[in-house]
Amino acid sequence: MDRNLALEVVRVTELAAIAAARLMGRGQKNEADQAAVDAMRKGFDALNVQGTIVIGEGERDEAPMLYIGEKIGRSADGDPKVDIAVDPLEGTNLCAYGRPGSISVIAMAERGNLLNAPDTYMDKLVVGPKGKGAIDISRPPSWNLRSIADKMNRYVEDLTVCVLDRPRHEQLIREIRETGARVRLIEDGDVAGGVGTCFEQSGIDVLMGIGGAPEGVITAAAIRAMGGDMQARLKPRNDQEIERAKKMGITDIDRIYTAEDLARGEVMFAATGVTTGDFLKGVRFFGTGAETYSVVMRSKTGTVRYIQGIHRLDKKLRAYF
Ligand code: FBP
Repeated sequence: MDRNLALEVVRVTELAAIAAARLMGRGQKNEADQAAVDAMRKGFDALNVQGTIVIGEGERDEAPMLYIGEKIGRSADGDPKVDIAVDPLEGTNLCAYGRPGSISVIAMAERGNLLNAPDTYMDKLVVGPKGKGAIDISRPPSWNLRSIADKMNRYVEDLTVCVLDRPRHEQLIREIRETGARVRLIEDGDVAGGVGTCFEQSGIDVLMGIGGAPEGVITAAAIRAMGGDMQARLKPRNDQEIERAKKMGITDIDRIYTAEDLARGEVMFAATGVTTGDFLKGVRFFGTGAETYSVVMRSKTGTVRYIQGIHRLDKKLRAYF
């Protein structure tokens, strides 16, 4: 994959973020998501790839755009063949209610290298580069937190563990608290929570708990690029979801995946803030323009770039909204 592609992909997350941010705080999560999807879909037309959506808005019959299997990109002969995982608006409710931490995100890898994750839950354990090698998802949270603290040369009591605030996590939260570690409960958005482990300024040391499996694959791409560590396990809720996973080629439902299993080979990751979060500012509108903050990274070099964009809504962007 051409290295410039990473810088092209960010144009697409910028568009989706601006579209969603225009509807921030209106209490309409579906409309905000749709605006992000529409803008992202249009943005992809200008990208020089032969792309296939492997993680998107759902199956073809339930999503008219950015559905799994959809071919996107300019698709000229010679354009790289890539798998694309998208979440045009990760944290739809966060955006709809003007809360922090919603992002627009794309991960990309050479064809066949992103896990075709079923739309089920996934148990995730994520740490940044300083905790690499210290995690084992088959062991209890207390073991992991002690091991991570040892590796990071920190007190367990000073670690901050990010967990989705859900009833299913009551036991997990109790176990984390018993170790003395600090808990950061988030309402939504475990991609930003997981990726946040790799950004010191986020204050997040570990992400634990169950969120979406597609979000897990997107998180893995960033973790690969930033040298963090991740383990994950599918958590289907019923037989139907198990069947769906099998149809998507997953034979061992209990398999423990590493970041490398979820996003193999050379991967790229781009995210643009929609509402301000731990490591990205949200979209700011001014006069006839908008300002965006994005991050772009590639696993090949490990380079992480912050990109601040000033966009003219009265010029180029008119075509998109
Ligand atoms: P949406 O952006 O699709 O609303 O997802 C937000 C999210 O919080 C993800 O970050 C997370 O992986 C998943 O939902 C958790 O699912 P649930 O809300 O069912 O617990």
